[in-house]
Amino acid sequence: MSNALKEYLISIQDRVENALDLRLPDANILPMKLHQAMRYSALDGGKRMRPMLTYCTGKLLGIPIENLDGLACAVELIHVYSLIHDDLPAMDDDDLRRGKATCHIAFDEATAILTGDALQALAFEVLANDPSIDIDTNHRLKMITTLAKASGSQGMVGGQAIDLESVGKQLTLPELENMHIHKTGALIRASVNLAALAKPDLDLVIAKKLDHYAKCIGLSFQVKDDILDEESDTTTLGKTQGKDKDNDKPTYPALLGLAEAKEKAQHLHEQAIESLIDFGAEADLLRDLSLYIIQRDH
Ligand code: IPE
Ligand code: IPE
Ligand code: MG
Ligand code: MG
Ligand code: MG
Repeated sequence: MSNALKEYLISIQDRVENALDLRLPDANILPMKLHQAMRYSALDGGKRMRPMLTYCTGKLLGIPIENLDGLACAVELIHVYSLIHDDLPAMDDDDLRRGKATCHIAFDEATAILTGDALQALAFEVLANDPSIDIDTNHRLKMITTLAKASGSQGMVGGQAIDLESVGKQLTLPELENMHIHKTGALIRASVNLAALAKPDLDLVIAKKLDHYAKCIGLSFQVKDDILDEESDTTTLGKTQGKDKDNDKPTYPALLGLAEAKEKAQHLHEQAIESLIDFGAEADLLRDLSLYIIQRDH
């Protein structure tokens, strides 16, 4: 990882932690177990890649950092909710997440379901009301629509449904790509596009280029996640390694083999870089982030 990216990522991780802490209900407000579980899952963990994308895109577009906090929290809250539900026994049945017990293990299954539900609702409350988002109502509505579409049946949840339906099946490459674009790509794309919406006068051509960048890294992110599930280890990952094979999930390495899956990730990175061709050094953080996504070890 470049030094510039490392420095910025550390400062953003700290910023996201504080911003989430401020927006999550206090653990001693009733119902306490639910609020404890929301804080347990959302705080103190994760790479914060989606917020990082929102801040890096916002920085590139000259949006003040204080105006990005609500957007970054909203995407991370949806992401955390998706992880809690993804780990449930009815889905991937995982007991380790971000180096600690998954929500349904640390609390119980019903609480984990409700925690996900509540985090999702909070994400939209933040988008609708957060004072950090300094924008006209029309753009705020566009932001809410963007996140809703990215999260719902034609976005992340749709991708998760395809994932569950595909267990034990051999998907074609286009089918696998479609699943990944939805289950992981959609929210990553929204993380960039929300920051673009925070600049109402943004040139449409530029918005399209950023969206294309986000589409490429959204897919490369899940290709790399599949690769890591095969070749990393549980301690480094903070989640149980080898679960995709155990659960008979269709993945890039399962379909193409590890070497070709890596080539695919590299190719997507190159396409992401290509999308930023019209930008100068101000887009270097986004370029570095794309490389980090395919080179990361967790
Ligand atoms: C894991 O996402 C789930 C996927 C969508 C691939 P991350 O790798 O971003 O998980 P955290 O947030 O760092 O824990
Ligand atoms: C998860 O994909 C995508 C989500 C929407 C959460 P995975 O099931 O591969 O994510 P991990 O490997 O459990 O983090
Ligand atoms: Mg899953
Ligand atoms: Mg999973
Ligand atoms: Mg995975």
